[in-house]
Amino acid sequence: MPLLVGYLLGSVPFGLILTRLTGGGDLRAIGSGNIGATNVLRTGKKGVAAATLLLDMGKGLAAVLIARHFWPSAEPLAALAAVLGHCFPLWLKFKGGKGVATMMGISLGLAWQIGLAYALVWLGVLFASRISSLGGMSAAVAAPIAALALGFTAYVPVLALLALLVLFLHRENIARLRAGTEPKVGSKK
Ligand code: G3P
Repeated sequence: MPLLVGYLLGSVPFGLILTRLTGGGDLRAIGSGNIGATNVLRTGKKGVAAATLLLDMGKGLAAVLIARHFWPSAEPLAALAAVLGHCFPLWLKFKGGKGVATMMGISLGLAWQIGLAYALVWLGVLFASRISSLGGMSAAVAAPIAALALGFTAYVPVLALLALLVLFLHRENIARLRAGTEPKVGSKK
């Protein structure tokens, strides 16, 4: 049950829904084609991008908190399922987002200290580089390291698995970073 609830919550494609509802068309046909907040920003709608970021984080956080309430000790499973739901949603033929915001939400839910470390690395690298994918990947990799360093060893396996997934889903971004063509935040490409 925690797997199903986590997956269903995670699979709600807020970026796609909000962009369509606000007249922005199909987000998958814009910019990188990704359904996350960074790509919503490329539509020029900052408020919609902020809402997407908060809701994509919120669904991850909600999945963990619901699991903690009803199925204590199943939080890691619900966390895993929420990010998998975001990245592979049934409703979009399993072609979803790259997991960065939802992983922020589950990190915060598992332990606020891990969430804080995630946010600091994400924002730090984002502000320093102005490259969203670099910030997101750095934060995802930082999460299992932070969990280990802070003594949340039970969460390390799931966070390490999700970090690998986030890196895999960013393989096109990684290729662009290597080629020096990855767009900076605010660029329309
Ligand atoms: O969270 C997604 C972000 O890391 C990259 O998004 O649209 O630039 O591929 P995008």
